[in-house]
Amino acid sequence: MTNINKTVVILGATGQQGGSVAAALRADGWAVRAVVRDPSGHRARSLSATGVETVRGDLGDPESLRAAFLDAHGVFSVQPSSGQAGADVTDEDEVRFGTTVAEIAERCGVAHLVYSSTVAAGPTPTGIGHLDTKSRVEAHVRNLDIASTIIRPATFMEILMLPGMGLDRGHLSFLMRPDQAMQFIAVRDIGRIVAAVFGSPDRYAGRTVEIAGDALTGKALAEHLTQAAGRPISYSRLPATLLAQDEVLGKSAALVDNGRLVGNANLDALRAEFPFLLRFDRWLAGPGAGLLEEALRPAGTGIALR
Ligand SMILES: NC(=O)c1ccc[n+]([C@@H]2O[C@H](COP(=O)([O-])OP(=O)(O)OC[C@H]3O[C@@H](n4cnc5c(N)ncnc54)[C@H](OP(=O)(O)O)[C@@H]3O)[C@@H](O)[C@H]2O)c1
Repeated sequence: MTNINKTVVILGATGQQGGSVAAALRADGWAVRAVVRDPSGHRARSLSATGVETVRGDLGDPESLRAAFLDAHGVFSVQPSSGQAGADVTDEDEVRFGTTVAEIAERCGVAHLVYSSTVAAGPTPTGIGHLDTKSRVEAHVRNLDIASTIIRPATFMEILMLPGMGLDRGHLSFLMRPDQAMQFIAVRDIGRIVAAVFGSPDRYAGRTVEIAGDALTGKALAEHLTQAAGRPISYSRLPATLLAQDEVLGKSAALVDNGRLVGNANLDALRAEFPFLLRFDRWLAGPGAGLLEEALRPAGTGIALR
């Protein structure tokens, strides 16, 4: 294992993306240091049990980041956003966190920064705060004197399993129309791709890479879900009344209609480059199986998507 003596620092390691990156980097033999707010929490302790070094830190405390980044080869940067249910960050917080991480990584002499953005990032605003934040952080990262790779993940497959999406009632509602295709990625694969990026800096430094594992219409989602659940699951777009009431969901549906949020990754090229990429059916039978089982149980809660 050639990476054994090199340390990659991970933000958000107790969460979805950071957790996936930590697991994949450990599997590739990297030394991994996770910046966590509560080292005694159960998620931080689970990380420690897999050989990840945990250090106390906070995105709002630059000094803690400086201490964590000293002597590190790489940094994986991801921030919480106002688009997540229960998150208590503003869009300005997200931008400040993302730009601070990049600046401190540059000043600490970190060799490679990987920033996780969104498929909808770009030069013109989308009008959705927690997407446009990422375009601003991307622009800042590119202006710094540090080798960096920006990944733009498609919509997570995991999102479809959130409470309130309807699976407990034999139905899935999401942003696209039944015949519209949208790209998705398994969170597990974000980590594997990031590990490949850290493993081949010459190939990936300076690049912005849109990543996805599958493209599915609403009807195709329903077919795969029906197969995996062993009972009929139908699909429809989120109700027009909800899209009219909820500004972010309404704008998101409009961004699906105009193509900005559906993802335009070249799936054939990505699958050749990253042969482990999961299609939705494989995800449902593998890492997503437990989430599906939970989502199928009677629940009756409101929608958790924002
Ligand atoms: N493309 C998509 O479909 C999609 C879906 C979901 C999210 N996203 C984007 O992904 C990003 C979030 O990633 P995620 O879903 O992997 O996150 P997540 O699972 O919600 O976890 C958030 C992570 O950030 C950490 N964190 C929060 N505030 C912090 C702070 N002040 N200092 C240090 N760490 C802090 C949390 O640590 P604690 O354990 O201390 O709370 C946790 O590890 C957001 O920007 C969101 O917009 C995209």
